[in-house]
Amino acid sequence: MADSKNLLVQLASIVEPLNLPSLFPQPQPLEIELGCGDASFLVEYARRNPAINFLGVERLLGRIQKLHRKGSQLGLPNLRGVRIESAYFLQYLLPPHIAVALHIYFPDPWPKKKHRRHRLINEEFPALARRTLSLGGMVYLRTDDPDYFAQMREVFDAAKEFKQAETPLGLAEITTDFERSFNAQGIPTLRAAYQLEGKIENAE
Ligand SMILES: C[S@@+](CC[C@H](N)C(=O)[O-])C[C@H]1O[C@@H](n2cnc3c(N)ncnc32)[C@H](O)[C@@H]1O
Repeated sequence: MADSKNLLVQLASIVEPLNLPSLFPQPQPLEIELGCGDASFLVEYARRNPAINFLGVERLLGRIQKLHRKGSQLGLPNLRGVRIESAYFLQYLLPPHIAVALHIYFPDPWPKKKHRRHRLINEEFPALARRTLSLGGMVYLRTDDPDYFAQMREVFDAAKEFKQAETPLGLAEITTDFERSFNAQGIPTLRAAYQLEGKIENAE
């Protein structure tokens, strides 16, 4: 659990679902970023949206510690981070239908064909997203890798409970650390959004 001084969630168990209400001072809608890196996107997004709670998920300690440092400096009560693997976290530690949005920006592309099975956004991911999101919830995706982008499109276009949507301008204008680096090098980046629609009863 998180205390008021440490924005990083100390998991009491890696098999019991997280007690989310205990993490944030205000019960507000929850948005989650998977693979949040140095958290520069999430910190800025949380700063601009105080009526939403934000949770960053990142497997590298050095990077998630930056979420704590930056968020603490700004005194953001609506920001928390957790160091864990994203798919496991969604599947086993989050209560179902808990979030209104998932942000996945520049996930590791695993460009070699034999490594593609390591990609986070694969054919199993829409079911994880569906489990995590409330009805009408959003998935926001960005990548610099055209092949991975095609895979993202393919798996979400094939998931009939998701429909293509737009990324709002106020979200698109907040860039991530990797995005700024790609922009500076003139490398094009790609973006997609999907919305969960339909009935939720059979989501498990
Ligand atoms: C290419 S970086 C992008 C970071 C950030 N989203 C950005 O755009 O600046 C990918 C990040 O995802 C993290 N990551 C990769 N796979 C992950 C997983 N399965 N679970 C949690 N974090 C992961 C990596 O450690 C890294 O920080």
